[in-house]
Amino acid sequence: MLTGQDQVWLNEVIDKISTKMDWVSEKSKYKIPFTTINGTHDNRIVDNPSGTVTDEINWWTNGFWGGMMWLMYHETGNEKYREIAQISEKELDRCFEEFYGLHHDVGFMWLPTSVANYKVTQNPESRKRALHAANLLAGRFNLAGGFIRAWNDIDHTDTRGWAIIDCMFNIPLLYWASEETGDPRFKQIAMKHADTGMTAFVRQDGSVNHIVEFDPFDGGIVRTYGGQGYEEGSSWTRGQTWALYGYMMSYMHTHKDDYLQTAKRIANYFIANIPADGVIPVDFRQPKEPKREDDTAAAIAACGLIEIAKVVGEHEKNLYLEAALKLLRTLDSTRSDWTTNDDCIIKYGSGSYHSANHHHAIIYGDYYFMEAIFKLKGNDLYLW
Ligand code: GLY
Repeated sequence: MLTGQDQVWLNEVIDKISTKMDWVSEKSKYKIPFTTINGTHDNRIVDNPSGTVTDEINWWTNGFWGGMMWLMYHETGNEKYREIAQISEKELDRCFEEFYGLHHDVGFMWLPTSVANYKVTQNPESRKRALHAANLLAGRFNLAGGFIRAWNDIDHTDTRGWAIIDCMFNIPLLYWASEETGDPRFKQIAMKHADTGMTAFVRQDGSVNHIVEFDPFDGGIVRTYGGQGYEEGSSWTRGQTWALYGYMMSYMHTHKDDYLQTAKRIANYFIANIPADGVIPVDFRQPKEPKREDDTAAAIAACGLIEIAKVVGEHEKNLYLEAALKLLRTLDSTRSDWTTNDDCIIKYGSGSYHSANHHHAIIYGDYYFMEAIFKLKGNDLYLW
C-alpha cells in the first residue's frame, strides 16, 4: 500500500518522465537508441552499404525504444508516441531479411514493438511480425536438454548447448503466440524451458547462474559460466533480475505455482542483498573495489517486486513493495538525469562486470524505470 508521501513522490516522478520524454522523443524520433554519447542518444539504425551482416539493427535492445514510446502513448494518449514506436518497429523488418544476426533475443525485440502495437491497434502486420519472431524462437528449442538455445556461435566458440537466464524474458513471446493462436506448442516450449531453468539455473539460496552449457546431443549439464558477472558461481545482478521478474512473468501467463515460488525465492535473496544505500552492484559477489554498479538491475528488480506484491497475501506484500520503492526512490533521487543535458533518464548502467566501460546510460534502464513507475500508478501497459 502506497502512503500519501509515496503518492506525492510518484506523481512528481510521472511529471518528470512526461516532461523528459516529450522532448527526447522528438529529438530521437528517427533513431533506435542504446546509450547516450556526450549526452545524445546513439542510433542502432545504420545503413550497411557493404551488405555484410552487422549487429546494429539486430542488436538485442532495439525493442526498448519502441516500448518506451508505447508506455508513453498509453499514459498520455498523444499520437506522436504511437507514430515514433511504429517507425522503429518497421526498421526491425530488416532483421528478418538478414536472419543470421537473430538469436533468442527476438522476445526482447518484438514484444515491446510488434506485440505492443498489435495489442493497442490490432495492426495485422504487427501480428505477423510477432508470430514470425515467435516461430524463430520456438525453432531454437533443444529437445534433449529441454532448453532454448541462447546465442549463435561467438567467434568460433561452439554455443549449441548454451542457455542463459536472460531468456526468461524472451519466452513470454511464446506464451503470447499460444494465447493468440490457440496452438499450445509455443507455451509447451516456454514452460519446458522455464522448468529446466528452475533446476539448472536457480541455486538453493535463490541466487542464479548466468550461463548453463548443456550437451546439445544428450541434454546433460556440462558446466556453468559466470557470463556477464564476476566469475563462475558469482551472482550477476541483472541476471538475478531477469530470473526474478522472468519467473514472475511465467507465473502470470501460466499460474503454475512453482514459478511464483521460484520468483519469490530469487526476490528474497535479492532483497537480502540490497546495500543500505539502495545502489545495486554489477555482481553481488564482486570484490569491494573497484566500485561497479548497475542501475538497470535495480529498475528490472523493481518491476518484478511490484508484480509479486500484487499476488501475495497482505502479510508479505509490504516486503516486496517497500524494496521496490527503495530501489525506485534511489534511482530517482541520485541516479537520474531530469535535465535537458542528457537524452537518458537512468545514468549508471553496466553491460557486464568485465567490460571496459561502466556507469553509462543503457536504454532498458530507462524502459524498466518507466514500466515500474507506471505499474505503481496502476497504469502500465503490460508488454511481456
Ligand atoms: N541480455 C543481456 C544483458 O542483460 O546484458
